[in-house]
Amino acid sequence: MPDHARKGIILSGGSGSRLWPLTASVSKQLLPVYDKPLIYYPLSTLMLSGIGEILVISSPDDLPAYEKLLGDGSQWGISLRYAVQEHPEGIAQAFLIARDFIGSAPVCLILGDNIFYAGGLSQKLALVSRRDAGATVFGYYVREPERYGVVTLDADGRPIALEEKPRNPQSHYAVTGLYFYDNDVIGIAEGLQPSKRGELEITDVNRVYLERQALQVEILGRGTAWLDAGTHDSLLDAGAFVRAIEERQGLKIACPEEIAFRKGLIDAARLEELAASFADTGYRRYLLELLEESRR
Ligand code: DAU
Repeated sequence: MPDHARKGIILSGGSGSRLWPLTASVSKQLLPVYDKPLIYYPLSTLMLSGIGEILVISSPDDLPAYEKLLGDGSQWGISLRYAVQEHPEGIAQAFLIARDFIGSAPVCLILGDNIFYAGGLSQKLALVSRRDAGATVFGYYVREPERYGVVTLDADGRPIALEEKPRNPQSHYAVTGLYFYDNDVIGIAEGLQPSKRGELEITDVNRVYLERQALQVEILGRGTAWLDAGTHDSLLDAGAFVRAIEERQGLKIACPEEIAFRKGLIDAARLEELAASFADTGYRRYLLELLEESRR
């Protein structure tokens, strides 16, 4: 990978307190969303964006479980590294933890509990990932904007205000947990002060880009599913959604082996080896069908 290629970060820490007791001994982003662990979904989003060097950040207790699950990434033709967040002191802390990993490259951060699904999304993300200056975030119309970072847009779709969990939101557009930044993000994160709740806020990072007129907001339209698995209900909803699509189409959402194969990151022989290493499950049969289809 060239040094200037965009790096990826998956932030997978946090206390998971809203999902207690599910998260008493298991990290939230390892919980199942139908047929795979939650973290596979954001990982797949990064892979589909064309990002091949990824840092997974989690708590000291949970990080070993991620290393066990995901390894060094070579099985999927990517590079995975790991770093500890001692305490959940804010999403923007990811850039301080990842400073050396990012180096002089641009970076994409995704929250480990964010699931994206839409036709054409990969192309859109790959285009955004090629932008070399400023920041890009994604706006998504939601019923309860007060639960999120909220962006207000002018008549031309340009952002004019950003607020984190406002009591009286000025718009229905939530800012999703997928953020593309140029390398300035490290300096911006270094200059942040903790918010009233004691966290380095990602919304404060985005506001600096907004003030510099360097923030682009891409709207994810009605045909997009953006799910965050942060509550019992949303976790169950996400699983039901994935099941419905997978059952209907016979195609998997967020299968890293498939993405790696289709993107040419691994060859057929490697895919066969991976499938052979699994027990006889639907997941294994899916990979074998993929292989067969590619040989037809
Ligand atoms: O999902 C999108 C929303 O994510 C954005 O709209 C908000 O602007 C942003 O602040 C964030 O809101 P949340 O309420 O979802 O943030 P939460 O504190 O729950 O953190 C999101 C995920 O990041 C969660 O799975 C845990 C992880 N996390 C969070 C913090 C604060 C960490 O790994 N470390 C942390 O220090």
